[in-house]
Amino acid sequence: MIAPETATAVASAAYIVAALLFILSLAGLRKHETSRRGVAFGIVGMAIALAATVWVTVAGAWTQPQAAFGLTLLVVAVLVGGAIGLWRARVVEMTGMPELIALLHSFVGLAAVIVGWNGALYDIGLEGTLADIHHAEVFIGVFIGGVTFTGSIVAFLKLSGRISSKPLVLFGKNVLNLGALVLFVALTVWYVITPELWLLVLVTVLAFALGWHLVASIGGGDMPVVVSMLNSYSGWAAAAAGFLLNNDLLIVTGALVGSSGAYLSYIMCKAMNRSFLSVIAGGFGIEAPTTGDEDYGDNREIDAESAADMLVSASSVVITPGYGMAVAQAQHGVADLVQKLRERGVDVRFGIHPVAGRLPGHMNVLLAEAKVPYDIVLEMDEINDDLATTDVVLVIGANDTVNPAAAEDPSSPIAGMPVLRVWEAHNVIVFKRSMASGYAGVPNPLFYRENAQMLFGDAKERVDDILRYL
Ligand code: TAP
Repeated sequence: MIAPETATAVASAAYIVAALLFILSLAGLRKHETSRRGVAFGIVGMAIALAATVWVTVAGAWTQPQAAFGLTLLVVAVLVGGAIGLWRARVVEMTGMPELIALLHSFVGLAAVIVGWNGALYDIGLEGTLADIHHAEVFIGVFIGGVTFTGSIVAFLKLSGRISSKPLVLFGKNVLNLGALVLFVALTVWYVITPELWLLVLVTVLAFALGWHLVASIGGGDMPVVVSMLNSYSGWAAAAAGFLLNNDLLIVTGALVGSSGAYLSYIMCKAMNRSFLSVIAGGFGIEAPTTGDEDYGDNREIDAESAADMLVSASSVVITPGYGMAVAQAQHGVADLVQKLRERGVDVRFGIHPVAGRLPGHMNVLLAEAKVPYDIVLEMDEINDDLATTDVVLVIGANDTVNPAAAEDPSSPIAGMPVLRVWEAHNVIVFKRSMASGYAGVPNPLFYRENAQMLFGDAKERVDDILRYL
């Protein structure tokens, strides 16, 4: 029989090893070449962490009857959670990843709320300063968890199209957000002095309402930042739970997730020319989108045969893919098209917007899957200046990321967001099924430009049509 103290000491050592492996995993994920190794480190780290947790519980079960109950709960939770996780991971489409991630963040938030409540209800007999610190941990943990929980649910609903992605604009919304934060600070002080349960109920409701409002006020175009920001919040919620449960690994892992999520949000904001503070403050200064009834004139249409003719007589072609290419799963056809055009001596390159699609690197992954050579896949900044001298740009299922309103219309909800300046090319062919707006719900004047023509229909079918003519 193992003494519980020995088991805890061994588990603590295992937690340190797991934490180091998580850090190595993050370091590995920085680059294409090392990313597989990074994932492997993460899997080993998580396996060690799980094994150590089971070990502590099993060792406790020999000596304490309530630990046996804990062990049963643990086995049931791992089996049920593992089965659901495996099933979701197998069936999820890549375009559905952000919404799945948002939903998973909501679980972390809810767990932090429950751990916080448990910490408040279960008296561990602390006194003096230690009790004050414990009460502050409970209160802060419940608050961060609550904001993460409802914020992630709204993000899930928006990303999966179950509710509109338009920003909710309540009267005095910034005052509401700031007021909620000030109230939270005041309540925390109150709770530390007199830890009464009704204060915990109040902060739980406040956090749920704030999380809901923060994310509901953010417009569709800023959603990528919101997802990574919620990722960060879920990390801090986990760290707060770690303090309460006295679990070092949870504290380290939570801090890693919290800080890397915050940094990713900051990088994305820079790439989209958004103010970080304005996005995390719930769309501070973002107006409701325009109604979409502007008159841009008539659009022109092209068929696949004429598009094929235009492509073979071009000397330079740039392809700017977007979310629609992922929906249509057109990447293999696009790769064949690129190969055929290059065989005919046409210079073909890709221009990738940092938030094209629905998750960072979405387009790069699809193109890599279709074996498009890396060296012709360029970032937006690398290709933008060449677009004015390009013969034909193929916009395949992209919309917001090629919208001239972002550069030219200061009143547009996406004003200032860097975009691919495809409209500067000699000819633009836009592959999409209708004249509908993109994710941000903003009309796109590109479709009505003199040099732009619409090739309507499913992107994969239209690319295959062009291939047939070629
Ligand atoms: P979007 O602006 O979302 O536009 C995609 C277009 O694809 C739509 O206008 C749609 O038009 C078309 N489409 C859909 N299915 C199609 C199909 N089967 N065949 C042909 N066309 C199809 O795409 P984008 O330019 O890639 O911009 C991405 C947007 O998502 C940005 O607003 C970004 O902020 C947001 N977002 C990005 C991320 C990340 S991290 N990348 C995460 C969440 C949100 P039709 O319906 O007319 O066909």
